[in-house]
Amino acid sequence: MDQFRIRGGAPLRGEMEASGSKNATLPMLAASLLAEGPCRLRGVPRLQDIYTILDLLEGFGVRHEWRGGRELLLDPSGARTGTAPYNLVRTMRASVMVLGPLVTRFGRARVSLPGGCAIGARPIDQHIKGLEAMGAGIRLETGYIEARAERLRGARISFDLITVTGTKNLMMAAALAEGVTVLENAAREPEVVSLAALLNQMGARVKGAGTPIIEVEGVRSLRGFEVEVPPDRIETGTLMIAGAITRGDVTVRRCVPAHVDALTLRLREAGLDVTEGEDWVRVRSEGAIRPVNVRTAPYPGFPTDLQAQFMALMTLAEGACAVTETIFENRFMHAAELGRMGARIGLDGRTAHVEGVPALQGAVVMATDLRASASLVLAGLAARGETVVRRVYHLDRGYESLETRLRSIGADIQRVAE
Ligand code: EPU
Repeated sequence: MDQFRIRGGAPLRGEMEASGSKNATLPMLAASLLAEGPCRLRGVPRLQDIYTILDLLEGFGVRHEWRGGRELLLDPSGARTGTAPYNLVRTMRASVMVLGPLVTRFGRARVSLPGGCAIGARPIDQHIKGLEAMGAGIRLETGYIEARAERLRGARISFDLITVTGTKNLMMAAALAEGVTVLENAAREPEVVSLAALLNQMGARVKGAGTPIIEVEGVRSLRGFEVEVPPDRIETGTLMIAGAITRGDVTVRRCVPAHVDALTLRLREAGLDVTEGEDWVRVRSEGAIRPVNVRTAPYPGFPTDLQAQFMALMTLAEGACAVTETIFENRFMHAAELGRMGARIGLDGRTAHVEGVPALQGAVVMATDLRASASLVLAGLAARGETVVRRVYHLDRGYESLETRLRSIGADIQRVAE
């Protein structure tokens, strides 16, 4: 197991490009199961979760080949249905996104139930409810979902809560269904919009992605696709906070500033100077960090995937604030670890009360999930002395060579084997 050793205190200064988005790439790869021709993706991040879904796709007969590091060619000509096994789904919940494509294209699918995860129970009842409304027969047996349907039928589906993966799964299922599907209370995340654009390129008829109502008119077949993966808005936000927390000056290029608006707004409230152009954002620190309350919400609200990183910043604010998590019920595991570095955080249900301190001290801390790990790295960059972040494999799931990128803008951070 690797760990990071960080010597904190240096302001980060410089610029870098955003990587391709993991959470946009995963559904695009799942969509290859719908395609009748070859698919090509450029700008694919080299992350464990991407390898996991490629393994899963191999099991369903979709062959892949890497070209020149970040380009991925997929050949779905031998695609078939099968089982998404527990040992893969367990390591990555997003695997459940093969369910919609498999059942709509091949009439049946068997996918392991994902089980709980570190940040919450994360059920998939909304995916199941949607597929049932479209006429699928669903059986839950020995930890597996078995779905069957001759051909799915369009239906009106109203989500009880906003689900990103649920919206993507049903959008893909509806693309080959008979008739029109209407998804109400749909997720509006940029990754939903990029998937809809991809499906339309394949010949699907999807309207309204990016709004709460998505309409999909099913077609008989879908073509292959060619796509450039959009930039990762959560990585962008994490790097912006790295500039802020180290009192530095960081520019992220090749990003979509509108996708990090909710963060930009809060950083400005906190006293940071944030400027942006068409495809870049720059964060400069101008003295004290002011406390700012945040409450996570589905897009375009403040992303749960930046809550931990923002909390790290607030531990150094001049005053107290409240950070409220409304999406996942157990996404505060970084709070106790930040506490080991001198942060003052009191938890009260879904709200963390953060009282800013003048400085954090380096300590040995443990990463528990992807975004919590990022918050510990950020805290380490700002802390006095040495911080050791253990179990960085969590971080590697969602950030490609974060330490190399941070080093390029002045961070003192090393990866060492534990
Ligand atoms: N939920 C249900 N029933 C369902 C589906 C979801 O109760 O059928 C609940 C979940 O338990 C959760 C809430 O609804 O409390 C939102 O879950 P959602 O389905 O939107 O999350 P997800 O699609 O599983 C994606 C991202 C997450 C990100 C969330 C929220 C991917 C692969 N994952 O998860 O990303 O936090 O949306 O924006 O796109 C990460 O990258 O670190 C990460 C966890």
